[in-house]
Amino acid sequence: MNRFGWKLFSSFFGVGALLASSCGGPEGDGQAAEDPDAAIMAKVDSVLALMTLEEKAGQMLNLGLAALLEGPFYTFRDTLVFDQAKLDSLLGVYGAGSVQNLASFPMTPEQWQATIAYLQQYVRDNTRLGIPLLYGIDAVHGANYTAGAVMTPQQINLAATFNPEMARQAGQITAYELRACRIPWNYSPVLDVARHPLWGRMFESFGEDSYLTARMGVAMIQGMQGDDLAGPTGVLACAKHFIGYGASYNGKDRSPVVMPEHMMRETLLPPFKAAIDAGLLSLMVSSGSMNGVPSHIDKHLLTDLLKGELGFKGVVISDWNDIDNLHKIHRVAADEREAVKLSVLAGLDMCMEPYDASFAEHVVELVNAGELPLARIDDAVRRILYVKFKLGLFEDPMMEGQEYPKFSSDEFDGMALAAAIESMTLLKNKDSILPFSGQETVLLTGVGAHSLNYLNGGWSRTWSGQDTAYNDTDKMTLLEALRAEMGDDKVLYSPGSTYDELLDVEDALRQARQADRVVVCLGERPATEKPSDIDELEFPEAQLRLVRELAKAGKPIVLVLLEARPRIFREVEPLADAVLLAYLPGNEGGRAIAQTLVGKANPSGRLPYTYPRFSGSLWTYDHSLSDERDVNFGLDGFQPQYPFGHGLSYTSFAYEDLRLDSDSIAHGDTLWVSLRVRNAGQRAGKDAVLMFLTDEVASLSPPVKRLRHFEKVELAPGESRDLRWPILPSDLEFINTDNQSVWEPGLFTVSIGDLKASFYLKKNN
Ligand code: BGC
Repeated sequence: MNRFGWKLFSSFFGVGALLASSCGGPEGDGQAAEDPDAAIMAKVDSVLALMTLEEKAGQMLNLGLAALLEGPFYTFRDTLVFDQAKLDSLLGVYGAGSVQNLASFPMTPEQWQATIAYLQQYVRDNTRLGIPLLYGIDAVHGANYTAGAVMTPQQINLAATFNPEMARQAGQITAYELRACRIPWNYSPVLDVARHPLWGRMFESFGEDSYLTARMGVAMIQGMQGDDLAGPTGVLACAKHFIGYGASYNGKDRSPVVMPEHMMRETLLPPFKAAIDAGLLSLMVSSGSMNGVPSHIDKHLLTDLLKGELGFKGVVISDWNDIDNLHKIHRVAADEREAVKLSVLAGLDMCMEPYDASFAEHVVELVNAGELPLARIDDAVRRILYVKFKLGLFEDPMMEGQEYPKFSSDEFDGMALAAAIESMTLLKNKDSILPFSGQETVLLTGVGAHSLNYLNGGWSRTWSGQDTAYNDTDKMTLLEALRAEMGDDKVLYSPGSTYDELLDVEDALRQARQADRVVVCLGERPATEKPSDIDELEFPEAQLRLVRELAKAGKPIVLVLLEARPRIFREVEPLADAVLLAYLPGNEGGRAIAQTLVGKANPSGRLPYTYPRFSGSLWTYDHSLSDERDVNFGLDGFQPQYPFGHGLSYTSFAYEDLRLDSDSIAHGDTLWVSLRVRNAGQRAGKDAVLMFLTDEVASLSPPVKRLRHFEKVELAPGESRDLRWPILPSDLEFINTDNQSVWEPGLFTVSIGDLKASFYLKKNN
């Protein structure tokens, strides 16, 4: 018996029986005992040695669950019935190694368990080696495809908290509730840096900044993966979409990126690099192209950079049907066969081929024809087996006997509520109109006012998030939550508008006249991917007109914004006394907004993107000075509606005593920045302190500033805190046109709030 032995493999899968007799393995090998990865790799190689080419090709296939069910792939279902012939073909004959996604409706944890147990048993009993399946899903804000699971705020809200602990907790809840369903693999987080505000999946990202995305992404992955991927609450994260999905030049879904490599490395790569350094073991390729090369065939990207330079040891999976798309959409391959060849040669390990097994057939044929080296296939399968072992799938794929009592618990709801509250971003508050005293009568109106779907956005029980049939009836819309806070008689309601049509505006205006305050909840119709493409960033005219009509009542107006990306509302902004940006705060969002409006919660969110004023002026905050030139030959051309990092509080924070411990350093020395933050107002509150760095002169036109550190502090009225942060060598570097990270001597400026301090980076002797 080898050291990982019979028990390990025999508990569930057939491969155990074969290995028990055939595996030489590293018996008594001291090295393997010290290095858990070496032990796992020995097991991986043992399994690989038993596999035929067909079985290897099958492992590389990731099927859609619907391909195994009765009826057409795309059809409405409210029950799940497997089709025996499809199972026998796709799992039995082709040996697909992975299945993903939902069957059109959200199942309960028990239904998920039964479904996955059925599939695992099928492969155990009906394939030669019984290699366990790797089930994957998009649980992008909580286990959103499971009935009753906690739907945390979307990623953009987590970013707005500027509190990585919120991202870690969201990852933790998600993993726990996925494991309650026996799902071990999550297509999350999105590490695309959202460089174009038109992008409909902005809400799935951590916003426009690379550093913020990296910090939040790492925290979320750590929360999701925990200390032990094979443990009862560890789930394998899959960062996506490598690379540039959020940076297309036209802002549309899956559109081309045009960007030199050094800029890609500067802006888009750091979150992925940080995630890999933090233990990321699976990654999804972007559906788009960069400089004309679709990412799925970009060997330089997937093999040289990702697996080589960044040392990525995990699985590279394609996005949905994207190998086919190389032929049908990108037109870089004459047919599917060539597309398979190009993508696998480029470094693809697993193909998300939802509909059929043609990918596996092509792999076998290409290897037999000598067009794909077997070594590349072995490398891909080794990576797949590696993560299956890391997840403990061979040993206990169903987490037998494991209980998940915290599923959908008050504790998790409370964590989701806390994150939603901390994301609330108060953009404007003229004459401190907010918070309400509680004595006012309020008219609440607008498309987002009485809808759980508008709070949650896409990926909520269904892909589009639009189906009201699956809404959690125990959760509160904003209307219900505000009435719970203020009393039914204090909150009047009129629907106002749909997404793009005015409703009974006379009714809304009549009630506005009876009220002391008017709250208009503007909203964006839930959507993701292609259906989230829009042609203009402005809110639909009907919603803007509702605000204009209500202004006739002459009552103070508060705008609440529920949106996937910064929708422009410039024309009605002057009519609003206060603006609260809630993004897509999830199922607890109604309560979070209501508690903020009445002052039970103090907003502390900051904008994780630049809020544009005009759709013809779309810049990120880290633009170069030349972008600020204006028509009068001045430097006044950058006039967003609100800048990156903006966010007000019901208290006020004073920044004092910004100091650097030296006015010059050599590269590699540590320079310490210190600052005092004081709560100068009357309420307790949290403040995200952001530190920017400016390289005043560089050989590549430098950004006007770059976020280099942040910390969230909580202070009672009058309380102050001394912060002290190091400036790291990497904070001072940039990527030059040779794609090297370099530093140059010269003047640098640190800015925190309105305070600034400068230092010299000295030449090396
Ligand atoms: C999306 C991915 C998602 C995948 C699986 C794709 O269309 O772009 O983000 O993970 O589908 O659902």
